[in-house]
Amino acid sequence: MCGIIGYIGAGDVCRIIVSGLKRLEYRGYDSMGVAIGNGGTIEVRKGAGRIDDLVNRFHMLDLKGDRGVGHVRWATHGSPNDTNAHPQLDCTGKIAVVHNGIIENFDELKRMLEARGHVFRSQTDTEVVAHLIEEELKKHADFEAAFRSALRELRGSFALGVVYADDAESLYFARMESPLVLGVGDHGMFAASDVPAFLEHTRRVVLMDDGEYAILRRNSWEVKEIESGRTVPKEVHEVSWTLEMAEKGGYPHFMLKEIYEQPEAIAATLAGSLKRIGEFADMLYNHDKVILVGMGTSFHSALFGKYILQRVLGITPIVEEASEFRYLYDGVLDDDTLVVAITQSGETADTLAAIKLAKRSGSKVLSIVNVVGSMATRLSDGVIYTHAGPEIGVAATKTYTSQLAVLAALAFTANDDRDGINDLRKVPEKIRETLNVRDRVAELADVVRDKRGFFYISRGVNVPTAMEGALKLKEISYVYAEGLSAGELKHGPLAVVEEGTPVIAIAPADDLYKKTLMNVEEAKARGAFTVLLSDEHGDGDAADFQIDMPEMNPLLTPMVYAVPLQLLAYELAVRLGRDPDKPRNLAKSVTVE
Ligand code: G6P
Repeated sequence: MCGIIGYIGAGDVCRIIVSGLKRLEYRGYDSMGVAIGNGGTIEVRKGAGRIDDLVNRFHMLDLKGDRGVGHVRWATHGSPNDTNAHPQLDCTGKIAVVHNGIIENFDELKRMLEARGHVFRSQTDTEVVAHLIEEELKKHADFEAAFRSALRELRGSFALGVVYADDAESLYFARMESPLVLGVGDHGMFAASDVPAFLEHTRRVVLMDDGEYAILRRNSWEVKEIESGRTVPKEVHEVSWTLEMAEKGGYPHFMLKEIYEQPEAIAATLAGSLKRIGEFADMLYNHDKVILVGMGTSFHSALFGKYILQRVLGITPIVEEASEFRYLYDGVLDDDTLVVAITQSGETADTLAAIKLAKRSGSKVLSIVNVVGSMATRLSDGVIYTHAGPEIGVAATKTYTSQLAVLAALAFTANDDRDGINDLRKVPEKIRETLNVRDRVAELADVVRDKRGFFYISRGVNVPTAMEGALKLKEISYVYAEGLSAGELKHGPLAVVEEGTPVIAIAPADDLYKKTLMNVEEAKARGAFTVLLSDEHGDGDAADFQIDMPEMNPLLTPMVYAVPLQLLAYELAVRLGRDPDKPRNLAKSVTVE
């Protein structure tokens, strides 16, 4: 996830763009840059680092111009450094491009363009767009035609902004599966990934749809179809958001926004990882022993990894908390071991220590990481990125389900299981459907708001989901909860169950459903308030409260069943007056052991 902005009009163009980028910082913050057009010239300043430091380092606010584009980056292709920062230029330096998204066919395009003499400077997928437009300009006299022709070659997702030195009257933008809106100002026109970028200048917006491009001029805007070039009639809407509301996309908290971003995060993760995952899948077969490690939510992903790798591939991985790994495995690892380290931040001290021990012992390390260029990525032999975008809420949500998506993709790819991959591609849609249970979850939160101890139970692949549900509740509502296998309940924890204790069962209609239901009945008989998450609707009174879930491949249910549990933790935290984004005593990234 990155953020883009463009502005053409009166006033201090670069200052307007930089202040817009600060509003988009939540979308990415590893690098930033601007391209400012002034008549027939464009000037690019960019680098890795935080916005304020870069603005000072490059004296950006001294730039004078009449139009420009800007970018905040959250690296996907190529590590965060000055060269990979956007804007990216063509060979002539006349076309500057900013981009949010992933160009899936960039390898092919790059090879084709290099064969025609184009020289690439960065490792980004974005740079191909600048060179592609340059190439198309050889065939089309008119920049708009070259731009449209280039757009038609691109596969993947993009929100693009382009400034062209030889066209001082216009800016060009395009949208395909990445957000982009236009802002209609009194003194100029805007385009940005999100409304807050220009909200201090205008509340009048034009919503762009996938497959459209826009041309902005000082006093006018026009939206057209990429495919046909036909003008698309659009309405101007007036938004009533405050700046703070707008930064969170209208959601009251980042956590809620990130819960809702999960379909997009998983789709981007699959688009970004599926192509390259084959080589990593081989690593699973080439080692005698596979050990999955992580902490917190990432540990729960590791547990899911064990289930899916075992069920799909028949291998028997070991799972360890990274903090315990060193006490168990020092001196017993060798080059026949593959350690799979799962970490959103790539900076968790316990996980890094596990990676270092593995490397010292001659083992290979494959990491699943969200933050490009983080320490874990530098220490590992192979990296698979989740493309969930920056996660601001301390409690992991979209990065968790994206990690699960990578693990499932890894298992299905290693087994060449096309049906599995197809089912995986349907998960974003299943989550979208599931997000509709929010009102039902809110009802449940009202019923259990005064309870002080919760149990989450399941069997099989959803035991980690139960553990993750309990962790979410503890983290953000400060209410004690335990997540465990349903079979374990009667071996001790059941003694704690009393009248009204919430017992939440995650029980998709698979071969384990009936067994889990028996455990629900055991709890009910001891007075528990039982809640059932299932796609089995036949047993209407099996539990005191049911949340209906969509039918789907049972192996992939953890990604979808996590969603109502995240929502429940969120709804309870809000009812108890906690700040879900910043829970007490916790940090997003724990860099101490
Ligand atoms: C902290 C966070 C958790 C996270 C864990 C591991 O404890 O509060 O939400 O799951 O670290 O973080 P990582 O970045 O390694 O996934």
